Amino acid sequence: MDKKKYPKSRLGWLWENMSGKRILFIAALFGTALYNVLQLVVPHYSRQLINLFSEAEKEHLPLADKSDTIYHLIFLMVALTLFRVVVVYLDCMAYERVSQGALFRIRNYLYDKIQRQDMKFYSTYRTGDLMTRVTGDLDAVRHNIAWVIRCIVESLTLFLSASVYFFLINVKLALCIVSIAPLIFFIVFRFRKKVGPMHKALREKLAGMNTDAQENISGNRVVKAFAREEYEKEKFDASNKDYRDTNMKTQMVWLKFFPFVELIANALPVILLLVGGVFIINGEITMGDYTAFSLLIWAIANPMRMMGNIMNEFQRFSAASDKIMEIYYSEPEIVNHPDAIPHPGRFEGKVEFDLVSFQYEDGKLPVLKDISFVAEPGETVAIIGETGCGKTSLIQMIPRFYEPNSGKVLVDGVPVENYNMTDLRKNIGLATQDVLLYSDSIEGNISYGATALTAEEVEKYARYSAASDFIHRMPEGYDTIVGERGVGLSGGQKQRISLARALAIKPSILILDDTTSAVDMETEKQIQHSLRNLDFPCTKIIIAQRISTTKFADKILVLKDGRIIESGNHKDLVAAGGYYSDLVKLQLGDSMVSAS
Ligand code: GTP
Ligand code: MG
Repeated sequence: MDKKKYPKSRLGWLWENMSGKRILFIAALFGTALYNVLQLVVPHYSRQLINLFSEAEKEHLPLADKSDTIYHLIFLMVALTLFRVVVVYLDCMAYERVSQGALFRIRNYLYDKIQRQDMKFYSTYRTGDLMTRVTGDLDAVRHNIAWVIRCIVESLTLFLSASVYFFLINVKLALCIVSIAPLIFFIVFRFRKKVGPMHKALREKLAGMNTDAQENISGNRVVKAFAREEYEKEKFDASNKDYRDTNMKTQMVWLKFFPFVELIANALPVILLLVGGVFIINGEITMGDYTAFSLLIWAIANPMRMMGNIMNEFQRFSAASDKIMEIYYSEPEIVNHPDAIPHPGRFEGKVEFDLVSFQYEDGKLPVLKDISFVAEPGETVAIIGETGCGKTSLIQMIPRFYEPNSGKVLVDGVPVENYNMTDLRKNIGLATQDVLLYSDSIEGNISYGATALTAEEVEKYARYSAASDFIHRMPEGYDTIVGERGVGLSGGQKQRISLARALAIKPSILILDDTTSAVDMETEKQIQHSLRNLDFPCTKIIIAQRISTTKFADKILVLKDGRIIESGNHKDLVAAGGYYSDLVKLQLGDSMVSAS
């Protein structure tokens, strides 16, 4: 995954996301260069002042004669310093604007990208890892714009302007000082090679820790049920420690190089003292020149010292931006075909499977084998079969969550991949096996797919799904806020709200994946009744484990190991005396089989 090629380099990608703020960014870079060149002001004017004093002393002239020049120099020194402060202030604001703007843009783009991904994406990436990308990693990107790039420009300008100034004063002394610089580059290059991989590892550990925390928090009920708090705490402690240690190790790498860099940086004033001293004695430079060198020597030493820090942060940015770019440039495999047919209206609701076989990309065995059946518009098709036989996988082919490896899935006689995906999915009401409700009111949850519903309509769909009674009994009725994952509701209550949500879009095709498994028999009967008397035409595909649910279906498909082993209506299948009839015996007793 490391060497993945993206359409743009990291910096090219950043540049692209600075759109609209690029001129401001370039102005900010110039600002940085400017306020660093202005660092020369104080040493430069100090040099002139001291030269003035020395000359006056040499020529035994009273300083009062030169007071105009002195005041002029002091005024320039103060004014330019104040100007520098203003530039620094504006520059900080500009970087903040550009970096926040890019952050906003990338964050929005990523969210949109994640939304449009297919099922495979969601089974590949863990939530904690995705969250790390849109939080911590993005912050590293912002930091790169607001701090790292700025520090690079700052260090370069300081170093270059001080060097040029030194060369203008005295070439020989400047050479003695500046010639040490290549050594630093060599050290920093070695450092980069060492620290780069460590930042990658560090970033993985952070994502791992976030994933642990996210799973633990969302799975807190399981933790409590098994009294595994202590275990979870220790597990988190371990990954937290691991993260801290790797962090320390990464920071420590610089410490190995630090003494060399410090030695070189500290050698600079000593060289200046020795060589500069000799030059003064020989009259090659004036006292003012020496002062300027000495006031500016930090401008050569500090950029050297900063190099480690900058490189460290740049490697952090590299690791983080790789992770973001992976999502930024990822494309879902299941997308609209270029010649997809728009279908804004309702579908008839005919669903057809024609020799469909399917295997998950990361799975070892085929899950569905040669599935063929037809659900005519308005029909109810029930799918029954032991756990893991492929029922959920089968129905996921209809809204194109997955695509068959061979065979075709057709709706109204047209292969599903030929439809515009949004049009297709808007016509399918799906109540999934794991119910997920949003942190919203019950009304908000029911009208999630059909936002323009009136309160009466919401109530009607709640009635269809036998939910209106229990909703009325809640203190705030339809305004009751249900928590994340529907905390505060029973399993059967959540299922009924999810059924109402699926019905509320008046789908042409209704798919229920074990949606009444947690409701009592009596309530289920009511739901069955409503489903037979919906006020809109609708083909129903119902996965169920209970005979009471499948009994009234026009067609029952019995699935075993990914194949349809029996199909027909209740009567036929009981008469056939196969798996289904055994199931009827098991669930209803022998007497009922003969009765039905
Ligand atoms: P129940 O819901 O328990 O009644 O089972 P089901 O009939 O709905 O089975 P499902 O279609 O969910 O799974 C069929 C087979 O596919 C099982 O062997 C699963 O292990 C496997 N499977 C399901 N989802 C995935 C997936 O996302 N990736 C992979 N690789 N395998 C999967
Ligand atoms: Mg299932």
